[in-house]
Amino acid sequence: MAGLLITGGKPLNGRIKLQGAKNSALPILAASLLCKGTSVIHNCPHISDVDVSVRILESLGCVCDFSDNTLTVNAAHAKGFEISDTLMCEMRSSVIFLGAMLARMGKAVLSPPGGCELGLRPINLHIDALKRMGAVIEENHGRLVCNCPNGLKGCTIDLPVASVGTTENIMIAASVAQGITVIRNAAKEPEIIDLANYLRGCGAVIEGDGETVIRIEGVSSLHSCQHTVIPDRIVAATYISAVAVCGGKVEILNAQPAHLHAVLPYYEQMGCTLRFTQNSITVESDGQLKGGIRVHTTEYPGFPTDTQPIMLATACLSRGTGVFVENIFSNRYRFVAGLNKMGAAVEVYDRVAVVRGNGKLNSADVEATDLRGGAAMIIGALAAKGTSHITKTEHIDRGYEDIVGVLNSIGADIAKER
Ligand code: EPU
Repeated sequence: MAGLLITGGKPLNGRIKLQGAKNSALPILAASLLCKGTSVIHNCPHISDVDVSVRILESLGCVCDFSDNTLTVNAAHAKGFEISDTLMCEMRSSVIFLGAMLARMGKAVLSPPGGCELGLRPINLHIDALKRMGAVIEENHGRLVCNCPNGLKGCTIDLPVASVGTTENIMIAASVAQGITVIRNAAKEPEIIDLANYLRGCGAVIEGDGETVIRIEGVSSLHSCQHTVIPDRIVAATYISAVAVCGGKVEILNAQPAHLHAVLPYYEQMGCTLRFTQNSITVESDGQLKGGIRVHTTEYPGFPTDTQPIMLATACLSRGTGVFVENIFSNRYRFVAGLNKMGAAVEVYDRVAVVRGNGKLNSADVEATDLRGGAAMIIGALAAKGTSHITKTEHIDRGYEDIVGVLNSIGADIAKER
């Protein structure tokens, strides 16, 4: 997708179906390397990060087939243990393959992912945890060379930060390690539970996922399974925000309100009406949003950092002062410059952003600084008067499946630039 032209001010009405969660699909695809058979993964989103994961799996010897939203991974003959620099650069979260490669092949070679658009994103916790499980990890000409000469062994790992990716890497590696692994201060995100459900479907023995302490009893190998990826809670929030700022009424099928309990009250506070069933959320808005929200991001079950840019863009369309505190990533306000270009008044002081909303934005030429920052630009442009031009939309393609088709199907006016 080269760029987007969005003509704002159109109300959104109708019904849409929510895609599967990127942050579930990616670790599940990494874990599929461990399965000495075929994983059939349903509700897998068609997004570029999934494409990169498939290319990594194929480069390691897996045979993959992606049709509709079902991805089949046959890892029976996987032998590879090296991820190319090109593939590592394309997706920071490819570090999630480290635990799986070590557990399956006994070795792994990859480049450290380095910093990214959200600030420094070190992988020290992943490395420390796998070393405690018996991996020997050295740096050689900028590549991480990892071996486990005596196999991986279960142990107790106390995480200093409830890191999502580290928890996932340990869970995957520990599933087939010798003995019992206990993760303390584990991440509790719904995507962790989804990964555990996939691994259990393959024969892993895991307890406590979704809680602070996860216990994994290693088994000798994992077998074939079928799994359905959970719906994407961040994409759900994106569509709710779109309706909130444009006005209209949209039913989002396949959404799980329980995964969004820290986020949904903000929309009600701003004046939207929400209705729920177990598997859908209906949002109704007159497009006149009240201001004054206070948001601070924390680990699940708190307010997710990935929703911060989306909610901040929404607050720009409200009338009043909103305050945001970003506690997870050091540099997650780069998108704010684009909103200010649209006429917003957002001031950033280190991890704090103050939004002085006056209920409107103007069209502008802006760029998607990163995935969720790109979603923030779309929300701003959908509400702005006139036609906005968004570039660098390849960031948006990393996590959103056909966002243009979905939004146009409920009344938005978005054209893809050729
Ligand atoms: N951290 C370290 N060392 C590490 C790992 C993490 O210091 O070895 C720090 C990070 O720098 C960050 C904090 O710990 O400050 C939390 O990072 P975490 O490891 O939890 O993040 P992640 O696993 O790299 C996943 C999601 C992100 C999401 C974060 C936080 C995936 C593929 N990515 O990243 O999703 O923001 O958890 O919830 O699951 C997105 O979808 O837009 C996205 C960035």
